[in-house]
Amino acid sequence: KRSTVQQLLSSQELDREVLVKGWVRSRRGNKYVQFIIVNDGSTIHTIQAVANAEQFSEESLRDVGNGACVAIRGQLVASQGKGQAVEIQATEVTVLGKADAEAYPLQKKATSLEHLREIAHLRPRTNTFGAVLRVRHALAFGIHKFFNDRGFYYVHTPIITGSDAEGAGQMFRVTTLPPDNPPRTDDGAIDYSQDFFGKQTNLTVSGQLEGELAAMALGSIYTFGPTFRAENSNTARHLAEFWMIEPEVAFNELEENMDLAEDFLQYLVRYALEHCPDDLQFLNDQYDKELLTRLSFVTDNAFQRLTYTEAVEILKSAKQKFEFPVDWGTDLQSEHERYLVEKHFKKPVILTNYPKEIKAFYMKLDEDGRTVRAMDVLFPGIGEIIGGSQREEDYEKLLGRMADMHVPADELSWYLDTRRFGTAPHAGFGLGFERLVLFVTGMSNIRDVIPFPRYPKNAEF
Ligand code: 4AD
Ligand code: MG
Repeated sequence: KRSTVQQLLSSQELDREVLVKGWVRSRRGNKYVQFIIVNDGSTIHTIQAVANAEQFSEESLRDVGNGACVAIRGQLVASQGKGQAVEIQATEVTVLGKADAEAYPLQKKATSLEHLREIAHLRPRTNTFGAVLRVRHALAFGIHKFFNDRGFYYVHTPIITGSDAEGAGQMFRVTTLPPDNPPRTDDGAIDYSQDFFGKQTNLTVSGQLEGELAAMALGSIYTFGPTFRAENSNTARHLAEFWMIEPEVAFNELEENMDLAEDFLQYLVRYALEHCPDDLQFLNDQYDKELLTRLSFVTDNAFQRLTYTEAVEILKSAKQKFEFPVDWGTDLQSEHERYLVEKHFKKPVILTNYPKEIKAFYMKLDEDGRTVRAMDVLFPGIGEIIGGSQREEDYEKLLGRMADMHVPADELSWYLDTRRFGTAPHAGFGLGFERLVLFVTGMSNIRDVIPFPRYPKNAEF
């Protein structure tokens, strides 16, 4: 039976026969002994197999080189060498898959992250991406555990939708109409009534609206799925395809929404620290010496809560010169968000009560009629990691907001129905999964925390 490298390295049981399968990281040695270094993805660490020349001819190890896949059988023994507690005294080495060592794109010398993006199909075999993908997994698992333990139900919302949840109009169209010669109506417009669904459809930008319907029946729900945005943001923080987690809770108001977001983020950072200590230590040492400090800074500090209006005052009196001016009513740029988090408060910040003009139609209007019950959670190095709000539960007010913001009410009659039949206060938020992985791994580009990043001019693999 096969053991993983992880199991072997943490095994107390020595001097027994083991079998390990994995990919060769290197082979070196002399005419008496060869050392084969293997990683199988179960951990950042490798295991060393020792092959003595009496048993293994040069010829028999010819294909055991960088990138090859091997099965190694032998005795698990205490290592005499430095750097590892155990090693395998090999009795049998089988090459499962050869790799031409010269053509293999992952050479021993370090390859830049930019170059690795061009060989995204192979980069999971590097230490860096192995670590990132294990942390990504742990966070996904932690998210489900957090909600499951608290009685939330996981709801699957559609990927193809007929509505624009954010009203931002940055959607990818889904169509089966012929691109060169689509059917047209009498006035020349493309006739979507002849399209697959009989109407215009898009890839979803958010599962929130459907999530709200579920919360109005199940109480506490969350979604966790892919979302798509055709915004032309060629930045280290934006993807065209990203995963979002959207809890929605009946009877919660803004305050409780903030409590949930704060508990959630602190829980997830702790979860990663507990389940991925070696990967995070590696990423800390390799890329970002401040990583572990920054993570404990999130788990150990209550988030600073303040209103948008208060934040604008702070930014206006800041000594720092900003590229974009700050004025009440304009959206904050990431330089402003990062100033508040990294320079002013030096801890995560939750900004609330933004001007209604710069937020989505579904957010609950404040008594002053000027601001809405929005909340953005801002993180060091990231800026906005969560966006959410208490929702407008009043039918008339919601209709009014939709009219103001030119959101077509006839297309959202199903959404409005929740306000007509048994409406209730409720609140929720969206966490960008890759922004969370970016923060926890300390990587500097969001394209390096998802296996196959989608961004403008890039949909390879
Ligand atoms: O602030 P956003 O647009 O909010 C919503 O979509 C709401 N429907 C959420 C809700 O209340 N249920 O997006 C939420 C989060 C952002 O804070 C950010 O972390 C992430 O999604 N995000 C992106 N991540 C990567 N690439 C992009 N292009 C992103 N756009 C948003
Ligand atoms: Mg937002």
